[in-house]
Amino acid sequence: MSSVLARGGAVERLAPRLPAVDAHAMLGALPIPVVLLDGNDRFRFANQAAEQFLGLSLMQLTHLPLRALLPEDSPLFRMVAKARADEAVISDHDLCLESPRLHKTSVSVQAAPLPEEPGCVLLTLQDASAARALDRQIAFRGAARSVSGMAAILAHEVKNPLSGIRGAAQLLEASASEQDQELTVLIREEADRIRALVERMEVFGERPIERRAVNIHRVLEHVRRLAQPGVAEGIHIMEAYDPSLPPAWGNRDQLVQVMLNLVKNAAEAIKGDPAPEQGGERGGEIVLTTAYQHGMRLAVAGSPERVHLPLVVTVRDNGPGIADDIRPHLFEAFVSSKPTGSGLGLALVAKIVGDHGGLIEVDSRPGRTEFRLCLPVMTESEGDGK
Ligand SMILES: Nc1ncnc2c1ncn2[C@@H]1O[C@H](COP(=O)(O)OP(=O)(O)OP(=O)(O)O)[C@@H](O)[C@H]1O
Ligand SMILES: [Mg+2]
Repeated sequence: MSSVLARGGAVERLAPRLPAVDAHAMLGALPIPVVLLDGNDRFRFANQAAEQFLGLSLMQLTHLPLRALLPEDSPLFRMVAKARADEAVISDHDLCLESPRLHKTSVSVQAAPLPEEPGCVLLTLQDASAARALDRQIAFRGAARSVSGMAAILAHEVKNPLSGIRGAAQLLEASASEQDQELTVLIREEADRIRALVERMEVFGERPIERRAVNIHRVLEHVRRLAQPGVAEGIHIMEAYDPSLPPAWGNRDQLVQVMLNLVKNAAEAIKGDPAPEQGGERGGEIVLTTAYQHGMRLAVAGSPERVHLPLVVTVRDNGPGIADDIRPHLFEAFVSSKPTGSGLGLALVAKIVGDHGGLIEVDSRPGRTEFRLCLPVMTESEGDGK
């Protein structure tokens, strides 16, 4: 601290003598995408976050015109031109930067002229959809919570009498006529079906999860092996994994359940797709990918903590996309477009991902639906068993 006690007892602050810092290095480490455009809207500089944001390296970007990335009617061009003409900082929110190369739906942009370099404009680009995904995630958790209360009631109020009903039917079965036996079997089977449903609901109960290091690739392999001869029969499942990925910090069985629900939904979407140019006749395809995402730290509302979620797992399908009426309630329980669907699959996914402190995002349009999961990795202290 650079405060000294001056005469008279007052505390004065002296300007600290800090060693010179490389501004270039600081800009490189800044987790906000920053680019510098020259007077002709060509890239002169991009920090690492911008390289990631735009999906191109600095080498590829240098001297590339902005119009190579975005159509000329993009609002970004107007902003840059205005910042240049007015010599003032221009901000805009919720911009949609859409082109064959970029797909960002909610970006906050600031354009600032650089007086030292006439004509140059500095742009900061912040993807608000990641922050929004967190908000949504909190809402999903809320949805899952309301289910968890109901799960407890169901388990208590339904399961116990149900075993009584089942037992009674079984007793009757022994002495019933052949015709009546059909009915007792029906009672038994229906009781079993309700029991299975209640057991599915019980997973929503609030129990702490047991975590350990989980190899996410083994989880995906297992899910592929389960799904391929079953729900995903006849569908091509492709894998694109980053083999250097560290283990996730989670519960293996629950993560299997998450991935299986996503793959099952993908397969069901493809199979139920009537459009011949989509999943139907072109061939259904599910792509599973994993990647490591540097610097993905998100602030969680109401908590000083920043969550680090570097593991990214995606499940993509070429089915018809999520129906518009389902979309706003996608992760809520009992929301289903399928005649025999219980609508619990994604509610369970949201609950488990939430319990893991992770994030789930969806991007869906006809022919391409992607569920993107961000998960925490095991840290050293967790590895020590602390
Ligand atoms: N990959 C996808 N493509 C298109 N729509 C999807 C996809 N995944 C989910 N959906 C939509 O979201 C709804 C809810 O999915 P969810 O898994 O929660 O329930 P469900 O699949 O209908 O039933 P359950 O999983 O309980 O058998 C689905 O009915 C479907 O309309
Ligand atoms: Mg489902």
